[in-house]
Amino acid sequence: MNRDHFDYLLMKIGIIGGGQLGKMMAQKAKKIGFYVTVLDPTPDCPATQVADKQVVGDFYDENKLRELVEESDVTTYDIEHIDVEVLKELFDKGHKIYPSPYLLDVIQDKLKQKDVLYKGGIPVPRYQKVESSICLEKFGFPIVQKARKGGYDGRGVVVLRDKGDLDKAIKVESLVEEFIDFEKELAVMVARNAKGEVRCYPVVEMVFDERANICDMVIAPARIEKEIEEQAKKIAIKSIEALDGVGIFGVEMFLAKNKVLVNEIAPRPHNSGHYTIEACLTCQFEQHVRAITGLPLGSTKLLSPAVMVNLLGEERCQGHSTIEGLNKALSISGLSFHFYGKKVTRPFRKMGHVTILDENLERAIEKAKKVKDFLKVKAS
Ligand SMILES: Nc1ncnc2c1ncn2[C@@H]1O[C@H](COP(=O)(O)OP(=O)(O)O)[C@@H](O)[C@H]1O
Ligand SMILES: [Mg+2]
Repeated sequence: MNRDHFDYLLMKIGIIGGGQLGKMMAQKAKKIGFYVTVLDPTPDCPATQVADKQVVGDFYDENKLRELVEESDVTTYDIEHIDVEVLKELFDKGHKIYPSPYLLDVIQDKLKQKDVLYKGGIPVPRYQKVESSICLEKFGFPIVQKARKGGYDGRGVVVLRDKGDLDKAIKVESLVEEFIDFEKELAVMVARNAKGEVRCYPVVEMVFDERANICDMVIAPARIEKEIEEQAKKIAIKSIEALDGVGIFGVEMFLAKNKVLVNEIAPRPHNSGHYTIEACLTCQFEQHVRAITGLPLGSTKLLSPAVMVNLLGEERCQGHSTIEGLNKALSISGLSFHFYGKKVTRPFRKMGHVTILDENLERAIEKAKKVKDFLKVKAS
């Protein structure tokens, strides 16, 4: 028997975080035949539907993190907000944790992250550490102020248009950035393994829900010129190389005045890469599993134009989740439906998503807009 093959089948993967990203990672790990353990504080979190085992525990519980890492051949995560100190200690002892906790430490702090990218020659918006309110004024309005740590889905980000907005400034440790009047927000998924092999996915457009500042539609491929596409891919790869990343990464970018700037990087599968499940030869979740286990990376070829729509919990609905319009949605040709299995819905909570494939991208966008109007997650 081929010895390598035998080892891979025995591989145990630990995932910190059992939300939708952990669930979809676990699905692909199971597809390859790996054993999956998930650490999450919620006993019936989405990933438990597919994982072999759950360790119930908090992301800052040192003992539980230690237990997971020690019983896994390789550990990864689906969320950035976890205790890195204990992970660094375990990593230094030789445990495989990807992306590395040292990289995660940089990503967790938006200021450190910007510094690494800037020093790596990556174009980023002009930025500065906030020392006092005087610094805010001197920086020049309009300003985007960001909490250094703990933010996600727009929480921890405020726009200060002028001096009159200074009372909206956040009071935690933060950085400020010039406000970019962007044409589009773009994203690129990049996979890299420990040997330095890199694969880049198509450039996509992220469209945001204005009310909640959450990305709610992704258009693949982005409707941009070839030259911008090349620029975005080059910058995305360079960013992950600057971070010495192993795993899959979501690189969020702004397109402004024919230039691409990096906004931030997610060290994990990303919402903007969900379309790859149906639309690419190797999806982001399988690619991540391959990258962290040292397997060769797969082709990222786009098989069809695609549009992904997030199913966010309806505004004013809280409680046991119910889906409205599912039969109608599934009768649309080329539509694929994903529900994460979260029992309770809340306004704007990410409950599922749909991906629509169509050889004509504009037609896929039209179908997606229709679906957004009638497919709803409400509370019973
Ligand atoms: N410098 C900027 N100029 C204009 N808009 C920005 C800027 N930085 C962030 N934004 C907007 O705020 C959103 C959230 O900011 P981001 O830094 O990505 O935080 P989060 O971690 O919450 O995703 C971005 O997707 C973008 O729409
Ligand atoms: Mg973001």
